[in-house]
Amino acid sequence: MKFNIKTDNEKLIIGNQDTNQLAKEYGTPLYVIDENRIRDNYNRLYDSFSSKYSNFKMFYATKANTNLSVMKILNDEGSGIDAVSPGEIYTALKTGFEPEDIIFTGNNVTNEELEYANKSGVTINLDSISALERLAKLPETRGKRISFRVNPMVGAGHHEHCITGGPKSKFGIKEEEVCEVYQKAIDLGFNPIGIHTHIGSEILESEPFMLAVEKMMDIAGKVHKEVGVNFEFIDFGGGFGIPYTPEEEVLDLETFTTDIINLFKEKLDEYDLEDIQMRVEPGRFIVGDASILLTRVNTIKESYRKFAGVDCGFNTLLRPTMYGSYHHIVVANKMDQENVEEIDIAGNVCESGDLFARDRPLPKLEEGDLLAILNAGAYSFSMSSQYNSRLKPAEILVKDDEVDIIRRREEFDDLFTGQNIPLRLLK
Ligand code: LLP
Repeated sequence: MKFNIKTDNEKLIIGNQDTNQLAKEYGTPLYVIDENRIRDNYNRLYDSFSSKYSNFKMFYATKANTNLSVMKILNDEGSGIDAVSPGEIYTALKTGFEPEDIIFTGNNVTNEELEYANKSGVTINLDSISALERLAKLPETRGKRISFRVNPMVGAGHHEHCITGGPKSKFGIKEEEVCEVYQKAIDLGFNPIGIHTHIGSEILESEPFMLAVEKMMDIAGKVHKEVGVNFEFIDFGGGFGIPYTPEEEVLDLETFTTDIINLFKEKLDEYDLEDIQMRVEPGRFIVGDASILLTRVNTIKESYRKFAGVDCGFNTLLRPTMYGSYHHIVVANKMDQENVEEIDIAGNVCESGDLFARDRPLPKLEEGDLLAILNAGAYSFSMSSQYNSRLKPAEILVKDDEVDIIRRREEFDDLFTGQNIPLRLLK
């Protein structure tokens, strides 16, 4: 199934729920998350890898969706967490993840962040020599189990902003410096036990992953031989894509994981590497298609172009504005109708770039129609803001016949959280 939706005559269904009823009951805009789909995505990916190599673990990249209930579900499934900030470490610990199941891959980290990560007991994955040197100066870091993020000079992704390997990338240690850095870590009294990379996001072909795996294994082999590091894990990051357009194909998991694991095993043999855990850090693949954003059309406007105006904007879902990303849109109360017109779907933020779609073929739209923006589970709520003093929407979780509000809709007072007016201005 390309998109995680079902229909019942004119109605769009998610879980067992009619989205029109959900919108009536909980209002719009509304993120609706399908619990079963998260579990299913996790298990499909996990099983596909682990059936071919059992020393395998997944670390959900929580930046994709940090909702506490989503984290709980993944904790329940046995996932670890890829955290990018102290806030994400804190959230992971709060939702029940053990420190050893959390890897902290910060970028341009401060000493305070390193200290927080160290005290939390998570694995610290260092992104620069500077961070290594600064970590060494902090109390109680001797003997600490650490790893390094490496730039294997392979990068891929759906947009330039989302390519994280290669010559332009700010991430990772340079290949030429890797042996030196591991040696330095040992000299400073650390216990380097892992090596990590993440080449980019929303990758639908296996080629860049294969290149990255090959490169990383060659690098790990060299560090093992020349520096004597006995790796406990090799982490290949995330990036597994999902189809956003009707034309894109789902990743052929079986072929993909077979090719990767075969190459991985070959390289383990080549470099006499043993007992190594293979790790990946999927974000989008787990949650991307497990959520939709429901938004209601409030204005049909025939200007120089035809617009359908809806009750949310790029403050609610940034990806189309930020990356020009395509999100498939369906009319939740007209699922049985043919596309008859091409129309722009515009948000309610006061900027011209606030568009969810241009010239999108859709059934005849009317004010009051309910739109569902699909694949809104990854980098959607987690990138939302209060820009234009717009309130963040509610999130609900559906599982079969159960529906729960897992984040209440914001109220006006939420706009002021943390603010303080100096007394002199109140005179
Ligand atoms: N590991 C690391 C170190 C990462 O930086 C990321 C994502 C992941 C894993 C998970 O990647 P995924 O499996 O989700 O592709 N906001 C952008 C995506 C940014 C991804 C950032 N890093 C978007 O909306 O497309």
